[in-house]
Amino acid sequence: MPRKFMITGALPYSNGRLHVGHIAGAYLPADIYVRYLRANGDEVRFVCGSDDHGVAIPITAAKEGRTPQEVSSTYNAKQKTDFDGLGIQFDIYGGTHQPGFAELHAQFSQHFFKKVYDNGYFTKKTTKQLYDVQAGKFLPDRYVKGTCPHCKHENAYGDQCENCGQSLDPLMLIKPISTITNTVPEVRETVHWYMQLGQFNEKLKAYLESHPNWRPQVLNFAKGLLAEGLPERAMTRDLEWGIPVPLDDPDATGKVLYVWFDAPIGYVSFTAQHEQNSGKSTEEYARWWKSDDCKVIHFIGEDNVIFHALIWPAMMMAEGSYRLPDEVVANSFLNIKFPGKEEEKISKSRGTAIWIEEYLQMFDPDPLRYYLTAIAPESQRTAFDVDEFIQRNNSELLAAFGNFINRILAFNAKTFDGKVPAQGALDDADKAQLELLRTFPAKVADQIEQYRFKAALGEVMELTRQANAYVNVKQPWHQKKTDMAACGTTVNICIQTIRCLMTIMQPFLPFSTRKIATMLNIDEASAFTWNKAADQLPAGHALGTPEVLFKKLEAAEIFAEQNNQG
Ligand code: 2FM
Ligand code: ZN
Repeated sequence: MPRKFMITGALPYSNGRLHVGHIAGAYLPADIYVRYLRANGDEVRFVCGSDDHGVAIPITAAKEGRTPQEVSSTYNAKQKTDFDGLGIQFDIYGGTHQPGFAELHAQFSQHFFKKVYDNGYFTKKTTKQLYDVQAGKFLPDRYVKGTCPHCKHENAYGDQCENCGQSLDPLMLIKPISTITNTVPEVRETVHWYMQLGQFNEKLKAYLESHPNWRPQVLNFAKGLLAEGLPERAMTRDLEWGIPVPLDDPDATGKVLYVWFDAPIGYVSFTAQHEQNSGKSTEEYARWWKSDDCKVIHFIGEDNVIFHALIWPAMMMAEGSYRLPDEVVANSFLNIKFPGKEEEKISKSRGTAIWIEEYLQMFDPDPLRYYLTAIAPESQRTAFDVDEFIQRNNSELLAAFGNFINRILAFNAKTFDGKVPAQGALDDADKAQLELLRTFPAKVADQIEQYRFKAALGEVMELTRQANAYVNVKQPWHQKKTDMAACGTTVNICIQTIRCLMTIMQPFLPFSTRKIATMLNIDEASAFTWNKAADQLPAGHALGTPEVLFKKLEAAEIFAEQNNQG
C-alpha cells in the first residue's frame, strides 16, 4: 500500500529573493524527501508559495513607491523561477495574496479564524499600542524600531531583536521610532483578538511527548518555551494589507489577521487551490489535511520552530478538525565564507549572500544541490565555504561520481559497441560488488526516512567509492588485452552499479541523473523507481551516447565579486 504524505516548505516572504541559506534550510531537504517518496511509490502533495502579508512587504512597497501587490508579485515570480531552476518541484507554488490564490486563501483563513472564535479561544482586549500621528496609523511589528530592552541593540524591530533573537512587543522598545515617518510615536488604545495559548499548554506538552524522534533542537526548543508558559498572542493587526478580520463587530473594522495566523493556513489553501486547478472539488484538501492515513510534514528554518511546533498546532487544536503535524523538520541557519574572509552570517544588507538567481547564471543546479546537502545544517550551523564548494565539486562530484560513470560508459562504447556486455563467471570481487547494489538502496532509504539527508548522500558516495575501488582492482582496460570475457563481466557489473547509483542519487541530483537515464537508455519511470535500483540491465541492451556530467569549476573569485551586490 502506498503511504500518503502532505509535505510543505516554509512560505518565503515576498519581499526578497532566495539565497543559498533559504535553500539549505528548508526547500532542498523537502525536495529530496519528496523525490524519494515519489520514487518509492508513495502518494505525495508538495506545497509552497509566498507569504505575502509580511509587514516588511508594504514597508518595502512604500519605500519603493509601489503597491504591496506589485512588490509581492514581483518576488513571488522570482522565487518560482529560482525554485524551478534548482529543480525544487512543488505540486503548486501559491502566494497568500497572489491572483489565483488570494480569494480561496482569504476564505480558508477567515473560516479558520471564525471557527477558533466560535470555539471560544479568542479574547477581545483593549490594549495600548504605538501610533504614528503623522501617518495616521498604528505601528505593529516592524513598523517601529528602537533599542532592544534585553541587549540594548539600537536597531531592534518591534516584533524581534535580530541581535539577541528575543521576540518583542513594540511597546517594549526603548526610544521607539516609526519606520514610516521617522517620528516618535505616541501610545494609543486599540482593540485586538488574542489567543490564549496558555490554554493549550498541557495538550501541547502531550503532543510533543508523542513525538520523541523529532530532531532534538526542535523538541528541546519547543519544550523549553512550553515550560516558560506560552503568553497570549494578538491574532489581529491594525493594518490595511492583509485579510480582513471576519467578525461582525464594529471594532473589527479596518483590522486584518496577523500574518502568522494566515501564513500556515496558506499550506492548506494552496492544497485546495491545487485540487481546484486539477478539476476537483476544493474539499479534496481534507484528504491531505484531515485524514488518518496522511502524514503532515513541515520543512522549515530554525527561526520558524515556535510557529510550527507550538502556535500552529495550538491553532489547529483550537479549530478542531485538522490532523496535527507529524513532523517539523528544521535546519539551522547557514553561514557563509568567502575566499580570504572570516566565516560570517548571510546578510542581505551587508551583501554577504549568494543569490540563487546569480548562482544559476554561472553554474548548473546539481553542484549546488550536492554541496548544500553535503554540508546541510541539520543539527547545527554550518558554512557555505566558497573554496570548499569548488573543491568538493571537483573532487567528489566530478572526479569520484561523474568520472566513474563517464569512464565506464566511454570504455563500453569503444569496447562493446555501446551494448551491455554479458556477465560471465563471477569471482568474489564481482559477487561482493553486486551484493552492494542489493544493500545500498535500503541504507540510503533508511537515512532519508529519518530526515538524515547528509548521511543519505554520504551512503551514495560510499557506494561510489566502492565502485571506484572495484574498477581499480579489476582494471578492465588491462583485462581487455588478456581476457575479454572477464573484461565484459567487469564492465557489466560497473554498468549495473551506474544503474543503481542513478536511482539512489536521483533525489539529490535530478538533472544529472536524468542525463544518466538517457545514457543508459532507460525510461525515467523505471530509472527512478526505488525498488528497481538493483535491477540488472540485460546483456545486449543498447546504451545511449555517453556525455560528460559535471564541469570542473575554478571560479571561486566569481562569488567574491558578486557578494557586494544586494
Ligand atoms: O520566516 C518566514 O520566512 C515566514 N514567511 C515563514 C512562514 S511559514 C508558514 F507558516 F507559512
Ligand atoms: Zn536584543
